[in-house]
Amino acid sequence: MSVLPASLRRLTPDRLRDDVRLRALAVGLGVIPPRTMHSAEDARVLLDAARGARRVVEIGVYEGSSALALCHALGADAELHLVDPFGRHPDALPSGWGATEWATRRVVERAARMRGAHAPSVHWHVILSSELASRWSGEADLVFVDGDHSEAGCELDWSCWAQFVPLGGRVVFHDARADRAGGRGLPGPTAVVARHFRSDDPALGWEIVAEADRTVAVRRVA
Ligand SMILES: C[S@@+](CC[C@H](N)C(=O)[O-])C[C@H]1O[C@@H](n2cnc3c(N)ncnc32)[C@H](O)[C@@H]1O
Repeated sequence: MSVLPASLRRLTPDRLRDDVRLRALAVGLGVIPPRTMHSAEDARVLLDAARGARRVVEIGVYEGSSALALCHALGADAELHLVDPFGRHPDALPSGWGATEWATRRVVERAARMRGAHAPSVHWHVILSSELASRWSGEADLVFVDGDHSEAGCELDWSCWAQFVPLGGRVVFHDARADRAGGRGLPGPTAVVARHFRSDDPALGWEIVAEADRTVAVRRVA
């Protein structure tokens, strides 16, 4: 089934387009694409950070738009770990929005199928990111933080996951540039990035290596 043209999709009343179950059906069947949650500049920062990565963790998958981008960019030797408890989430999404595991899995499976033998291996974790961190072993050379956007939630992700990132590895924060001229973001991730990477007392051994629009990439340097 092919995706409906945008001109046709725009005729759909908002109430229908935002109905979680109807949306899930249409997204899962491939009639409409997943909502794009990042701009071209956001995607560039994320995909630059993903270059050569072997083990990537995406926290907050929603309908799968950034998972698709990662699935296209990573090589067959890479693992893509997708973490999301799914459902509605007051600190992660506009009111009334939610995604379903069924639909998002289908979106990512289609993308992986298209890449055939070149696709990364995809691993699903339908739990909170902090629960996964508590049982994680080994390294994660890219962690994309795009889950709970409250300050406490984003701080928890940073504190749980930074320990697994090796020298040269990266953490990418979405929605973290509300305090930059021309930048965008939300108060929670913006405060976490400002505290750890822009303050007079920054996190030791980390530096900002790229940023644009709503996205900030930091790298472990020591
Ligand atoms: C902004 S959306 C993610 C957008 C996605 N990265 C994309 O580009 O399409 C946030 C998602 O984070 C999920 N979420 C919220 N809290 C979470 C947590 N503690 N761990 C993992 N995912 C979480 C929500 O269920 C929601 O689907």
